[in-house]
Amino acid sequence: MSENTEMLMPESGVNGNTRKVFVKTYGCQMNVYDSQRMADALGSGGYVETKSPDDADMVLLNTCHIREKAAEKIYSELGRLRKLRAVRRETGRDLLIGVAGCVAQAEGEEIIRREPAVDFVIGPQTYHRLPQVVSQARSGAKVVETDYSVEDKFEHLPAPDRRQVRDRGVTAFLTVQEGCDKFCTFCVVPYTRGAEVSRPVSQIMSEARNLVGAGVREITLLGQNVNAWHGEGPDGAEWGLGRLLHALAGIDGLARLRYVTSHPRDMDDALIEAHRDIECLMPYLHLPVQAGSDRILKAMNRKHTADEYRRLIDRIREARPDIALSGDFIVGFPGETDADFEDTMDLVGDVGYAQAFSFKYSPRPGTPGADLADHVADDVKSERLQRLQALLATQQTAFMKGLENRIVPVLLEKPGRELGQLIGRSPWLQPVVCDETVGKIGDIVSVRISKASANSLLADAVNREVERRA
Ligand code: SAH
Ligand code: SF4
Ligand code: F3S
Repeated sequence: MSENTEMLMPESGVNGNTRKVFVKTYGCQMNVYDSQRMADALGSGGYVETKSPDDADMVLLNTCHIREKAAEKIYSELGRLRKLRAVRRETGRDLLIGVAGCVAQAEGEEIIRREPAVDFVIGPQTYHRLPQVVSQARSGAKVVETDYSVEDKFEHLPAPDRRQVRDRGVTAFLTVQEGCDKFCTFCVVPYTRGAEVSRPVSQIMSEARNLVGAGVREITLLGQNVNAWHGEGPDGAEWGLGRLLHALAGIDGLARLRYVTSHPRDMDDALIEAHRDIECLMPYLHLPVQAGSDRILKAMNRKHTADEYRRLIDRIREARPDIALSGDFIVGFPGETDADFEDTMDLVGDVGYAQAFSFKYSPRPGTPGADLADHVADDVKSERLQRLQALLATQQTAFMKGLENRIVPVLLEKPGRELGQLIGRSPWLQPVVCDETVGKIGDIVSVRISKASANSLLADAVNREVERRA
């Protein structure tokens, strides 16, 4: 444990109860991972996690700045928390309010100016200082901690807590890379997460073993540009993500590996071959392209053309023919004409996605895109988004329907909404609703898909014969 975490000694809330923290997470998977690590760090200082703000002594919002709407949502949530605290104080109990994540990094003390109820603001590069910051805030100081840290935050954060890992289930995230040097002209991430940093192999391997030891069956490696990860292997050679995946695949008990999010420019041969050679690497790849027009790709600073992306997809499919592709798209980037947008539709038509996310361009303060001329009118953006989403939905449905009547290995993850059900995931990431008699949480069972709906698959009631045959 680091010095910082030791500074937060176990303390009690009112009436001698343990203090409770409610962490609310917005944005991407990296925020989910960071929230867990922050909860772990606070846990060693005597805080336990609670699922609701109502009985919390501290509320920590882990925020996202990617689009205007995401950032604005935080202020309405802070307004609600201000009121909750006022009611609390009437009964003599206090509530500490903290803001972490990308809004914290981007807006810093501006957050406290806009919402004085906030006690502390902490950026993603300084989470290892969280216990210290909480101590200061609790003694009445307003704290803003957003400097890019010189020390490695992961070395100072406590390792994921075994008991917590068990409670969180059989799948886990593991950040291997953080930050971005790509500077796409629409994107705030290089400013909120800082420069690209790769975690060392030994740290990653030991965290992965730790997770598997605590019952995790599937690990998803995370990074803003996860495939830009590189580091020195134990053999002294420079490793890329492909080599790292091979090493992780050797961990006994680890059944499935995934990674997200990748940039087309960093899909090297070794990584493509990993999809051919590593059995536990799941056939799913999130590879955002954003747009299909070379002119717009250039203005976005993506540094590749639409055809280069098409050829890359061909090579990936050659290596792993059953791979499910996913992507991100932005419509209405400044200067996007009807013809440019049709290029995006064509690219989507050519590639065929199993799943995708698409957004209207949102100008972000401080990014080059915001200063460009020719912003696209909102109704045009809406119309394009609608058309694109309709096409993507058709492709998703086609992919899902293609799985009907097939026998599919499913990792059982959690109880379903209805009694007697378990929810698992297919190799291609869709949730699969199973009868609980198929197996227990953590098992990988072979089930026949009886029905595909828009967002999930339904498996036949158990069929042990199927399991043996598969
Ligand atoms: N690191 C990842 C994703 C970053 S953010 C990558 O490089 O692909 C996730 C997605 O949000 C992006 O892929 C993009 O499609 C979208 N996005 C980012 N900035 C945006 C903006 N200003 N307006 C609309 N969508 C945006
Ligand atoms: Fe943002 Fe581009 Fe970096 Fe992805 S690669 S995080 S979209 S700047
Ligand atoms: Fe949002 Fe930051 Fe993730 S801006 S998408 S939380 S890296």
